[in-house]
Amino acid sequence: MDFSIKTIDAKTSIASLKAGCIAVGIYENKKLSPQAQALDKSGEITAALKSGDISGKPGSTLLLRKVAGVAAERVLLIGLGADGELNDKVTSMAALCVARVLATLGGADALLALPFDAVKERDLAWAIRSSILVLRDNSYRSDTLKSKKETTSGIKKVAFLVAAAKAAVAKEALAQGVALANGIDLTKELGNLPGNVCTPTYLANTAKKLAKEFKLSVEVLDRKQLEALKMGSFLSVARGGGEAPKFIILKHLGGKAKDAPTVLVGKGITFDTGGISLKGGAGMDEMKYDMCGAGSVLGTIRAIAELKLKLNVIGVIPATENMPSGTATKPGDIVTSMSGQTIEILNTDAEGRLVLCDALTYVERFKPAAVVDIATLTGACVTSLGHHNSGLFTRHDSAHDALAEELLSAGKATGDTAWRMPIEDSYQEQLKSNFADMANIGGPAGGSITAACFLERYTKKYTWAHLDIAGTAWKSGAAKGATGRPVALLTTFLMNRAAAAK
Ligand code: BES
Ligand code: MN
Ligand code: ZN
Repeated sequence: MDFSIKTIDAKTSIASLKAGCIAVGIYENKKLSPQAQALDKSGEITAALKSGDISGKPGSTLLLRKVAGVAAERVLLIGLGADGELNDKVTSMAALCVARVLATLGGADALLALPFDAVKERDLAWAIRSSILVLRDNSYRSDTLKSKKETTSGIKKVAFLVAAAKAAVAKEALAQGVALANGIDLTKELGNLPGNVCTPTYLANTAKKLAKEFKLSVEVLDRKQLEALKMGSFLSVARGGGEAPKFIILKHLGGKAKDAPTVLVGKGITFDTGGISLKGGAGMDEMKYDMCGAGSVLGTIRAIAELKLKLNVIGVIPATENMPSGTATKPGDIVTSMSGQTIEILNTDAEGRLVLCDALTYVERFKPAAVVDIATLTGACVTSLGHHNSGLFTRHDSAHDALAEELLSAGKATGDTAWRMPIEDSYQEQLKSNFADMANIGGPAGGSITAACFLERYTKKYTWAHLDIAGTAWKSGAAKGATGRPVALLTTFLMNRAAAAK
């Protein structure tokens, strides 16, 4: 899908603009948006509203052909609800309506002339970015491994109509929206690919491809090198599977050489069977998504690299499968992590924290400005927060409160929201082991919190946040598939950091 900005000055009438379809907003009280008004010289739009053919409620649409005095072939009326109540939900829905109606029109180009300036608490840039995300999300199909490709939405070209004075702002927002959508698509694609295709080696090759395309630096460590680094915890997870573990380091160094990097660490379990603590069979196929943390790191770096973001960002991915076998780690096994702390593995299905803890120790060498790990870590997080919010965990001091606020507000800005959860010493006690420095599980109570508490023990040397995306990274049921979350949150977080560093 090709996006562009079309500008209009005060002297030009919208009615004179040529397009396959021009989309304008109307309201519930039969009122026209200014753009609809400009197309209504003949009174046809007013007549359509009067006739009751369109209610004006959000989601309602009416397609008119060859409206007198309008150069565009079609006028698509889009209901925006009550006048003055245009919020982000309605705006996203409007973009979706355009996609759905035009999908039936076989390749018509669309000119969106919606009242983007009127969106509450948002601005034009937000409206353009979010419309692009909605349209691209709608046209994404996971058909890489299907022999017949599905046909996607008929619209090939979408232009946003903005006042000439807003051209620069709009163009920047468009570039951001497209880069973000490209990153999200990559994350979805990696998530949706099955465990026999998207292996640790495949993730490493994806990182290498990105490095080549965007001139990033990349390093991939193999088992021997990980042994030399004494990553006993990460390697304990990789003992059962046939796929070689990979430890991926991808650097986008767009900031000043002396600036401390922001580090993203993504859980990259390319398939989680649970290991010897084997999971039940029902729905186990969904554990191909257990690398969505890793996928979101690659997608985010793709987005910021395309935008040439002036910030130093390092992505780190510990990648392996979690399989049972004769060589697999057993419940009760004790391993020594790279940090020197020993871990009693009481449940081999709590493997995410085992790969992350060594990655979190590894990144100390970068003297990070902040570290954010992203992981489909616990089913307990899905129980507590459902599918709407990612779980956000940090310590509770002023530096961490500030980092939490950055992440929460980046989430709110994009609708890719997170909700803050506690990390407290009282929960840490649940990780006591009789035989090692800690156990890898803390019992069923507060499972997402004890998982975060486990990670916290490996992050003492820098400011750190943990995002548990088990509930947000993919959808189950009929709409099964990766969502691309939290790439929008992370990319916005980094964009805000780059803006603050100016
Ligand atoms: N990858 C899973 C977490 C998960 C489960 C994500 C269900 C999405 C849906 C993780 O490795 C895991 O198995 N966690 C266990 C931890 C438990 C053994 C302490 C869980 O959540 O059951
Ligand atoms: Mn598991
Ligand atoms: Zn897992």
